Amino acid sequence: METLKVGVLGATGAVGQRFIEALAEHPWFELSSLAASERSAGKTYAIAANWRLASALPGEIGSQVVVPIKPEEVDADIVFSALPADIARDVEPAFARAGVMVASNASAFRQEPDVPLMIPEVNADHLGLLEVQRDSRKWDGAIVTNPNCSVIMLAVSLKPLVQFGIKDVKVATMQAVSGAGYDGISSMAILDNVIPHIGGEEEKVEREAQKLLGTFDGSSIVDASFEVSASCHRVPVLDGHTEAVWITLADNPTPEDVRDAFLNFDPGLDLPTEPDQVIIVHDDPDRPQPRLDRDRGDGMSVSVGRIREGIRYITMGHNTVRGAAGASVLNAELMLSRGLL
Ligand SMILES: NC(=O)c1ccc[n+]([C@@H]2O[C@H](COP(=O)([O-])OP(=O)(O)OC[C@H]3O[C@@H](n4cnc5c(N)ncnc54)[C@H](OP(=O)(O)O)[C@@H]3O)[C@@H](O)[C@H]2O)c1
Repeated sequence: METLKVGVLGATGAVGQRFIEALAEHPWFELSSLAASERSAGKTYAIAANWRLASALPGEIGSQVVVPIKPEEVDADIVFSALPADIARDVEPAFARAGVMVASNASAFRQEPDVPLMIPEVNADHLGLLEVQRDSRKWDGAIVTNPNCSVIMLAVSLKPLVQFGIKDVKVATMQAVSGAGYDGISSMAILDNVIPHIGGEEEKVEREAQKLLGTFDGSSIVDASFEVSASCHRVPVLDGHTEAVWITLADNPTPEDVRDAFLNFDPGLDLPTEPDQVIIVHDDPDRPQPRLDRDRGDGMSVSVGRIREGIRYITMGHNTVRGAAGASVLNAELMLSRGLL
């Protein structure tokens, strides 16, 4: 397969750095442009990026010069966006109008009716919305989004349970500090502490889960009918969101039935960033734990454990990999594999 040129918008941030890791040696994509704010443009990437969140800076990337976030400065067929939502709202359509496919992490367009909100293992058929988007917006490119970092672990774990008839879902999250970005939360605020509120997060978890598990009817997404109720909390963990889930299922399966459904979940997508095991089931009662389990499947596996009557369980995954950069890359791989790029 011929490699496609890709760029990263917001390449210097917490998610941007994970994109660099995911793309540096990607078999289908060639990382051609690194873009960030005027603060960073013109500097080499090694100087502009606070490269402290991921492992060693790969290969020659440190000497690449960061460009401004403008379509004429970015040489790419696909751009991965890790921009703040208010910036993404103006910038992403500019790239789509210029004929570029935008795979976005930002929340700006997730709820637009003609924009796919995607997790390949959950709703690959929602890519059908791209045709609707092209008809309505007349862009040569397009925007495809991935969900909020805490919704991804929840939605992946809910997908195998759809067969039992989901009636309602309650979730309490314990979210890592990297979810707020590099400058997101002061160490004085979070160390030795739990913050019981993350602005806008609960609404995103509730709305996005319904769109993700909704049905594509050929022209729009009909949201899933079950209620989702979320309570979101910031905890002093570097990477890895942990979530306690309570779910009411119409068929009243046993915890063993639910465990089997998780174990047998195999979307069979065969994409480079897809982990061998999408869901890892832990039987040890004190797992999953972020420090021990967030890097499973190169950060792309979602862990579940403590499956109990109710049904209650814990889910956990790497928020800046499975919950952000890896999720966007997987979306782009799905589109390429389906001839949509
Ligand atoms: N962190 C997560 O776990 C996570 C998960 C899912 C989705 N997201 C979403 O992903 C996006 C990025 O999050 P993050 O955590 O990586 O944030 P971050 O660490 O604050 O990084 C923000 C990036 O955007 C660039 N930027 C900021 N203001 C800009 C401007 N005015 N013009 C152009 N570029 C600008 C920054 O460039 P400079 O370095 O040059 O300032 C930096 O590269 C957000 O929309 C966030 O909600 C984050």
